[in-house]
Amino acid sequence: MNKLLIATNNKGKVKELQDLLKGSGIQFVTPSQINLELDVEEDGVNYEENAGKKAIAFAQASGLISLADDSGLEVAALGGAPGLYSARYSPKPRAQDKDRRDFLLENLKDKPRPWNAHFHATIAVATPAGSVEFAEGNCFGEIIPEERGSGGFGYDPIFLMEGLGRTMAELDMDEKNRLSHRALAVMNAMPILKKMFGL
Ligand code: IMP
Repeated sequence: MNKLLIATNNKGKVKELQDLLKGSGIQFVTPSQINLELDVEEDGVNYEENAGKKAIAFAQASGLISLADDSGLEVAALGGAPGLYSARYSPKPRAQDKDRRDFLLENLKDKPRPWNAHFHATIAVATPAGSVEFAEGNCFGEIIPEERGSGGFGYDPIFLMEGLGRTMAELDMDEKNRLSHRALAVMNAMPILKKMFGL
């Protein structure tokens, strides 16, 4: 049976996507498992363009059906920023996740709270022949001014989940993978994957 390629080099996303796909009946591989090194420029004007571009590039390079996600954090008080630019949101060269969280809090510090926000994920599933289908998920909450928790990645320690009173970094992997934007997007992508793999 054909395998699904998880088309991302982001270690946090790889871990979550592996966990989300296990039990689906679909066998999957990561780029490093097939020695595929590919860096796709994310120059699209929306999540779909970026996710689609990544999924198609990985599918064509590997010959495997490929799943890519493009995601971001949208903060209402910043007009939806950092959004599409969440992974690059810091003026520092070689910035890490912590630098991006600090930069976000710096930009929010004079704005009235609550700092309502949501995470968005768009998943693209592409075939080597170039056809592509999409699914989406959102997760709502607010940004808080201090870091809490050590799980997850990215903005998780400063993202308080709506109705839960815990940050995304205070969830264990099972909880995050039931509630997150990426979890919901993968759930919504399941019918597409099952159809493509004939399950
Ligand atoms: P991209 O999809 O590669 O453009 O990266 C999206 C960026 O959004 C990540 O590098 C993180 O900074 C942020 N992000 C996306 N999903 C999550 C999440 O589940 N938790 C925390 N940050 C996230």
